[in-house]
Amino acid sequence: MQLQFWGHSCFLLSTPNYSLLFDPFLRDNPHQLIQPESIKCDYIFVSHGHHDHLGDAIEIAKANDAQIVATFELASMCETSGCRIHPMHIGGKHVFDFGSVRLTPALHGAGVSGGLASGFIVSIFGKTIYFAGDTGIFGDMQLLGRLESIDYALLPIGDNFTMGPTDAAEAAKMLNAKHVIPMHYNTWPLIAQNAETFKQDVEARFSIPVHILLPGQTLSLD
Ligand code: NI
Ligand code: MN
Repeated sequence: MQLQFWGHSCFLLSTPNYSLLFDPFLRDNPHQLIQPESIKCDYIFVSHGHHDHLGDAIEIAKANDAQIVATFELASMCETSGCRIHPMHIGGKHVFDFGSVRLTPALHGAGVSGGLASGFIVSIFGKTIYFAGDTGIFGDMQLLGRLESIDYALLPIGDNFTMGPTDAAEAAKMLNAKHVIPMHYNTWPLIAQNAETFKQDVEARFSIPVHILLPGQTLSLD
């Protein structure tokens, strides 16, 4: 199974049979790494409605006949635009054909009226991956770590809008994550961070390996 980073908080998780896309902010990403037309996927997970997460999800969903997985309010909005959806909500779990998904809380704005921001814990191909979305640190991350055995935690470290590196390190510990991948940094000067410092801190204090992915890079999840 491969995890490819497409900048900001966009990841493409691929198994031999399924491709899962997370928060595809591509066309307006200032680094212009890949265009939405080049993405092939079966499911699109959207953590909340802010433009740097919803991004090109609707266009990609239609082009691929992919299903959008999101909170009820956000999924319903995507359905209005003609997308196939699977609505969920915080604390709910569902078994899909590729594996299971738990919708997690996220301390953040929803970006859509009446909604909530979320994260996802996806169990697929023998691995459990926590995509935190945009969130501040919260104590129930410890509970998530007890409920799920998290192999890879994808955590925002950009600060200002989300956790910064110090809080994300603490989050990794609370989640009892086996590996950490930082996201949501260096897209703009406001969220500039040194991921190398974050890596050294988490590895030295908590002995959790941190994998820094440069945009376009792929990590094999074995
Ligand atoms: Ni946001
Ligand atoms: Mn964001």
